[in-house]
Parts: sequence; structure tokens; C-alpha cells
Amino acid sequence: MRYLLGVDIGTSGTKSVLFDEIGTVVAHATVEYPMYQPKAGWAEQDPEDWWRAVCGSISAVIAKSGIDAAEIAGVGLSGQMHSLVCLDGDGKVLRKAILWCDQRTAAEAAELTEIVGRERLVEITANPAMTGFTAAKLLWVRNHEPEIYEKTRKILLPKDYIRLRLTGEYATEVSDASGMQLLDVAKRTWSQPLLDTLEIDRSLLADVYESVYVSGKVTAEAAKLTGLCPGTPVVGGAGDQAAGGVGNGIVRTGTVSATLGTSGVVFAHTDEMVLDKEGRVHTLCHAVPGCWHVMGVTQAAGLSLKWFREQFCKAEEAAADLYGEDVYVLLDRLAADVPAGCDGLFYLPYLMGERTPHLDPNARGVFFGLNARHTKADLLRAVMEGVGYSMKDCLEILKKMGVPVDEVRASGGGGKSALWRQMLADMFAKKVTTINVSEGPALGVAILAGTAAGIYGSVAEGCDAIISRKTTQRAQAEAKQLYKTHYPVYKSLYRSLKHEFAKLNAISQ
Ligand code: XUL
Repeated sequence: MRYLLGVDIGTSGTKSVLFDEIGTVVAHATVEYPMYQPKAGWAEQDPEDWWRAVCGSISAVIAKSGIDAAEIAGVGLSGQMHSLVCLDGDGKVLRKAILWCDQRTAAEAAELTEIVGRERLVEITANPAMTGFTAAKLLWVRNHEPEIYEKTRKILLPKDYIRLRLTGEYATEVSDASGMQLLDVAKRTWSQPLLDTLEIDRSLLADVYESVYVSGKVTAEAAKLTGLCPGTPVVGGAGDQAAGGVGNGIVRTGTVSATLGTSGVVFAHTDEMVLDKEGRVHTLCHAVPGCWHVMGVTQAAGLSLKWFREQFCKAEEAAADLYGEDVYVLLDRLAADVPAGCDGLFYLPYLMGERTPHLDPNARGVFFGLNARHTKADLLRAVMEGVGYSMKDCLEILKKMGVPVDEVRASGGGGKSALWRQMLADMFAKKVTTINVSEGPALGVAILAGTAAGIYGSVAEGCDAIISRKTTQRAQAEAKQLYKTHYPVYKSLYRSLKHEFAKLNAISQ
């Protein structure tokens, strides 16, 4: 038997999962690490923590599985995207990594737009300047820590730093490289003209490959620390969103995914590169060779529900504890008793500003339409509906870009809720399905590793061999009609509040 290992270097921890050839999970292990927030809006991690977590989780998985490590045909790496690791000439980390969710780079994003020009930046990188993307972070280091910038000889993304530690190779792949905002996304290579304009030396960047390319082999030293065999192939892998796309089987047009994690992501595969000129959704290279993907991002999806639970649902948490039940299952039952539309109550899920469709860091969360009859259960359901409307905003933009949508595949923690999935089906007026494996990014990169090892003829064949539909929910006529009449009200709320959000931000810093 041959096995495939998927390693996902996430923001809260690293998860390693060992699969057999038909995608059965043989063993998994997660090791967590801290995130440092030295100032408001800053977010950093120590790459050494990622490496420790990678070694710890891989060795735990191999020990638990009882297999011979020589049977592992390949390793795939996935990880949080955009985060910046600066290395000196010996590959030593020069400062903590600046993470994707770090918001210190507003001035640098503006600088990027000014130097390159908005239109040219979108033309080359397929996206307008993003505070979260890597280029703005690199400019920040150049502007604020010139002594670090001077010493920097290579910059890497989190999973590519782990590749360096595992294989000794400096390499990246197209899906994650697209999120650095230095890649020519149409040509799938670094953009020399853009690097020249920004006066960034090409030698700072690792070579970029397609995601199924074997970028290196496990070294003897890494083998000792992880329990892997020296020489085990490590494929390019993918940024967590593209990897999750593959792991959800989004490798052809027609089926899109809606992931209800901390953030909410609506993700579609495209055979040709398609762009939203307003930059409300991201266009990036897909991990499927020669293809692209587009995605809309709701910043606070599961995070909204978690916030509501933590602030207002202590009694439900205690009851769930007492009955040995998942508190979210209990909250689902509470929300299910409230009729769709919550008697005219709306929630805007902008607890962390918003990416799609507003690209507005000032946006704030809102409850709108409260009356004296509303209960906590109404507020709870309104939170779930508000996230659903926000995901609909993402889907509507994809549809306007000409992306075909026949089926929406729900995943992530929130995707486990049949109630939330039904809301999506009713709001989207589409079939909402779930699949048999829920390992998302780890499965996606294991499939990439299996493709490189020749176990699957292509990424799509790998998905077909492993992924099948588990549940299907269709829109219900009455709720579909109700959401159709309510959605325009939801949409008008941001327009009405946009300027007030900016004013509020100016006075409440
Ligand atoms: C994608 C994004 C997140 C991070 C962290 O654009 O910012 O998905 O990759 O998970």
C-alpha cells in the first residue's frame, strides 16, 4: 500500500494527515502555536514554532498509523497564504513572520498603487493592492526596518519555509505565489517589469513551479526530526484556499465551494483567467496545472457565530457541557425554531472589516431592525443569515463574471450545520451539497502529491477517485422567495452606513 501525507501549516496550528490511496484518513495530528500581536492590528508568528509543529505532528502521525514511513509516496504542503518570512544568506529567519491578517500595511498598499498604478497592478497581479498580500508587507519591512531588509536574501511563504527545512530547497508554487502580488498571474511567472518598478531584486524570490511539481526530497536531517524517510518527494503543494479547493473537488467549472470557517470563502475553478475589475474577489492561479481560481472572502463568518456564542450563550455552553453535546448543535436547534427572515432583523457580519464585496477595513458589525419582540434566538439566527447574505454577495459577483454555478459544496466547521447549509441553498437558490471527506487543504495537497507520484493520472482524476457527494439540499420555495425580498434590504444597509463607518473609525481609534 502507498500512503500520502498532507501537511497544513495554518494560523492556529499545523495539521498533518496521512491518507491511503483512496483518501481514507489513516492518522492525523495537530500541534498548535501562538500568534503574537505586539500592537493593535499586528499579527506575527515565529517560523521556528511552525517547524516544531511540523516535526511534532508528522512524527505523531507516523507513530499512530503504525505504517512503515517508506510506504509514504509523497508529501504535500499547504499553508496560510500571504505571510512574509525574511531570511538571511544562510537561510536564518531575520524577524518574526508578518501574517496574512496583519493590518499594518495600509500606507504600503497605497504606495504600491501609487508606484505601479491601479490598472497596471490589476493587469499584472490580477488584484488591486491588498494590505494582507505579501508585497505590501515587504515594502513595510523596507520602509520601517531597513536594517532587516538590507540583510534579507530570500523571502518565503509559510509552507515554502517548511519546504526549505524539509528539503533544503528554496521553491514556491503558483497558487501561493499569486498571493504575494509579485507574480504575473496570467503568465504564472514572477513579473520582472513589476519587480523593476518596485526596485525589488528577483533573487529575493524562490523559483516558482506548478503545484504538482516535485520541488525537493526530504533530507537526512529532516528525516531524523520527522520520522519520514530520507528522499521522500515533497511536491509544490498549494496555498490553503487552492488546496482546500482541490480537497473539496473544485477542479472543474460548475461546482463552487462555500467554506464556512473563521472566514467564509466562496471559491470557483476557472479554465481561463477571469477578473473582477473592481477587485472585489481575488483571482489567483489554481493548483490544477494551467488553471485559475477566483474567490470571494467574508472576513467574519464562523467568527461571527463564535463571537455571539462567547458573548451571549454561556447558559447554552453549560447545558451542552452537561449533556455532552456540541454547543453549536444546540445553537442550531435554537436558531431552527425562528422563522426565516427573523421578523425583519438583519445582521451585517463586518466584525473584522470586510473584503468581498466592500474592501473596507472600516466596516463594522451591525444588528438592524430590532423590535421589542425579538429574542436571543432571533439574534442568533440573524447572525447566521447575515453571514449567508455576505456569502451570497461573493457568489453574485462570481456569477456576474460569467463563472457557471450548478452546485455549491459546503465545508468548514459551519458547513456541518444542516440549518446553515439550508439557508445557503435558499439564499443562493442553488443545490448545496457536502462530500465524504472533510480534510480540505490536507487532502488537497495529498492529492497533488499522489498526482506527482503517478497514483492519479491528474488532479481531477485524484479527486474523482476519492471524493463523492454525501448530502444534497435544495432551495425551498417559501424561504427562497423570502430571502429574495430581504436581500436588497441587506445590501442597502452597507451603502447607507459606509460613511458612518469611516466617521466612527476616525473618532474611535
Ligand atoms: C486567503 C487568506 C487566508 C489565509 C489564512 O486569501 O487570507 O485563507 O490563507 O488561512
